[in-house]
Amino acid sequence: MSQQEQWKSKIGFILATAGSAIGLGAIWKFPYVAGTGGGGAFFFLFLAFTLILGMPLLLGEFIIGRKGQSNPINTYSKLASNPKWSIIGKIGVFTSFILLSFYSVVGGWIILYIVQIVAGGLNGLDEGRYMQLFEEIISNPFATLIAQFVFILISILVVSKGIQKGIELASKIMMPALLILFIGLVIRSLSLDGAMEGVKFLLVPDFTKLTSESILFALGQSFFTLSLGVSVMVTYASYLPRTQNLPQSAISIIILNTIIALLAGLAIFPGVFSFDLEPNAGPVLIFAVLPAVFNQMPFGMFFFLAFLILFLFAALTSAFSMIEIIVASVTKNNPKKRKKSTWIIGILIFIVGIPSCLSYGMLADVQLFNRTFFDLMDFAVSNILMPLGALLIAIFVSQKVSKDVLFTELKSGSNIGRGFFSIWYILLKYVTPIAIIIVFLDVLGLFNW
Ligand code: PHE
Repeated sequence: MSQQEQWKSKIGFILATAGSAIGLGAIWKFPYVAGTGGGGAFFFLFLAFTLILGMPLLLGEFIIGRKGQSNPINTYSKLASNPKWSIIGKIGVFTSFILLSFYSVVGGWIILYIVQIVAGGLNGLDEGRYMQLFEEIISNPFATLIAQFVFILISILVVSKGIQKGIELASKIMMPALLILFIGLVIRSLSLDGAMEGVKFLLVPDFTKLTSESILFALGQSFFTLSLGVSVMVTYASYLPRTQNLPQSAISIIILNTIIALLAGLAIFPGVFSFDLEPNAGPVLIFAVLPAVFNQMPFGMFFFLAFLILFLFAALTSAFSMIEIIVASVTKNNPKKRKKSTWIIGILIFIVGIPSCLSYGMLADVQLFNRTFFDLMDFAVSNILMPLGALLIAIFVSQKVSKDVLFTELKSGSNIGRGFFSIWYILLKYVTPIAIIIVFLDVLGLFNW
């Protein structure tokens, strides 16, 4: 078998992995689900789920990834010495494919907004007009399809360059830029009149606001935003040397991801409150509400442009990871096949994504199972395939790989003791699967009395 490529540096791995995690989940979805799901109480729950469920699963994916040193499909059959288990990798590859087919639609919207700003089209409109403009933009079939294609094209160009020269290099530039721009943005937002209202909304928990739905959203959100359940983290960890400290890496990624979600909330809610807008505006929060907020600040459009560029970076680094796991599986890590496979996979994803893109225009009235095509894909991925993958991975790691192998792999590169190992193991073996099964029961409508 051909030798796998490896990350060049420890920090390169952390930034690439954080890049996969930080994306639409932390920046677009988090503020609006927090806005509709109870503000501070939601944030608090999200943090708890991330630490109790997300962290053990992330570490589990890292351990088997580095142990397997292979693509996601082979890793499972190799570690269990049974080809049947490769199904977990196959589900991950399939899920990533479908995920990118609609993720790229939103990526395309960001590109269209950037073009609009540069052309001056977002300047000085009144609040209601931004909402209309957003609807006009996303219902234009040609513009959205071209933008979706451009988003996928950038991902193809980066991923076809490989791990070190593609994903690692791009993440090393994009992630620090994202963090710096975000801090600038938050400082601007916090200096608005009445900003404290927004900060309170995001950070002061009022647990009476929680509903069973928002609890489940917080759980789904913590898995989605850490890219768990699809073997992306297994694949990224397979490019690691034995010297990397896995627990420390997992903690760094979780901290970075949480900081960005927090900064996204702090960039948005002060403005929402300061300008008397609705925090529970839903998915349009960023696209229709933010321009109105920025428009009322000095140099507002300049700041909004900065925000959109970093938002695009974040979405792209997540898209790279979705393509990467498919490429790694199809090429069986043969570098000679990488370029051609990346192009073919990218174009296929674009084709499958066309109906999702048109769901906001021409195909808006076409419904399957009571949902538009976009919503159906999102539902299948976020509520069925990802939790299913996460459940299978938790079962696989805790039951199919021996405890000794797990402990040795976890210890390699770190000085973790038996105590930490036991807590991790119990969380992964019992707590994570039970929580995921509860989510499933909810999807089946068991809690909708
Ligand atoms: N974590 C990414 C985000 O928050 C989404 C993602 C999920 C990426 C699964 C890869 C795999 O946007």
